[in-house]
Order: sequence, then structure tokens, then C-alpha cells
Amino acid sequence: MSKITYIEYNGSSHTHEVANGLSVMEGAVQNNVPGIDADCGGSMACATCHVYVKEEWFNRIPKKDDGEEDMIDMAYEPNNLSRLSCQIIVSEELEGLVVNLPEKQT
Ligand code: FES
Repeated sequence: MSKITYIEYNGSSHTHEVANGLSVMEGAVQNNVPGIDADCGGSMACATCHVYVKEEWFNRIPKKDDGEEDMIDMAYEPNNLSRLSCQIIVSEELEGLVVNLPEKQT
């Protein structure tokens, strides 16, 4: 289990223990975190799981592949900290990870 913190655009913070091996998106859905709809169920086809990874964490998580990059281009207001949370797999190394949700995902 690793502690993941999801911060909504309005500042509301949700910290949950997420089982290693699940995605950051699955951790949000299982804990009813508002703002991560995950319409495609994690198949990288919707971008409704878009998050901004806290800067100090960005280089500590596994890199995105080209498919994720393409989908992020279609997300709402992507920036250089954007990731699809369905593509970030939770592991012990991610204990304490913090992600922020975009304005549109409320
Ligand atoms: S859940 Fe659809 S792209 Fe991540």
C-alpha cells in the first residue's frame, strides 16, 4: 500500500492508501475521489483521468510512452506535469505521491 494524495482544483485534498499494482486512477475510483471519471476504464482513450503530478514527483515516476503523450495532447489544458493517472502504477517508490486535478475535472 502506498499513500497517494489527490488535490481537487478547489483545493480539497484526499489522501488514500492504494494497493501497489493498481493505477493511481484505480486508487481514485475505488475511493470515490471526485474529478477522476476514468470513462474508458484505463485503456488510454479518454483523458478523463488527467492529473498534474506535483513537480518534485514528476521525474520519480515511470516515464510516459508515445500513446500517453498523444492522449495528453487532447486533454484539457495539459502542461509539462501532465500525466494520465491510469498509466501510473502504484509501487512502494510512490509512497507520498501528490497529484492535482485540472479545473475541468470537478
Ligand atoms: S482512464 Fe481513460 S485515459 Fe485514463
